[in-house]
Amino acid sequence: MSSAYTQVLDRTFGHPRGLLGRIGGAVMAAGNAATERHVVHVARLTPGETVLVIGPGPGVGLATAAGEGRTVIGVDPSEEMLALSHGRCPEAELRLGTAERTGQPDESVDVVLSVNNVQLWEDRAAGFAELRRVLRPGGRLVLSAHERWLPVPRHELAAEVTAAGFTDLQTWTWDPPGFGSTAAELRAVRP
Ligand SMILES: C[S@@+](CC[C@H](N)C(=O)[O-])C[C@H]1O[C@@H](n2cnc3c(N)ncnc32)[C@H](O)[C@@H]1O
Repeated sequence: MSSAYTQVLDRTFGHPRGLLGRIGGAVMAAGNAATERHVVHVARLTPGETVLVIGPGPGVGLATAAGEGRTVIGVDPSEEMLALSHGRCPEAELRLGTAERTGQPDESVDVVLSVNNVQLWEDRAAGFAELRRVLRPGGRLVLSAHERWLPVPRHELAAEVTAAGFTDLQTWTWDPPGFGSTAAELRAVRP
């Protein structure tokens, strides 16, 4: 794959910026919507919970998680994606940040959701440690990524989550309806 092609892909989907990023946002909003909604379903949110969405991109998961008195927070390093998230979910608290640096206080959220961004984290150990830090005891982590883009095999990712101090780990794959690619997913609890 040429480096120019890789750069275009990164600017469109990985670290969306400018016009390409906005086009990528529209493509992701359509193509990944079923997975974003599925992850919210897996998280079994209850009324009044605080939900942190890592890398919300265009904001489909944020909008799905909102309602029933819940606080929804989105952290993404892309200003373009935060703008799209705001358009789709105006009630969300949104800030620039990453999985490794969420800007969230200790033990302040009940649920963390991450869809299609773990492959972009620069330091996964730091990212999982950060997500454990911000979750309250008993809080849940639900993560999903296109299986073909996983940075390491699913069982290795699960081992990294366990090493970060999570328990009750479950992993599985999920095929979205239509032509979407298979997602590798995991759920874990912050003890
Ligand atoms: C492929 S898009 C996925 C967006 C959306 N969750 C979806 O599935 O359609 C990746 C998103 O992760 C964000 N991102 C990139 N690096 C990140 C990091 N280190 N931590 C959190 N989000 C990151 C990007 O800005 C982008 O919004």
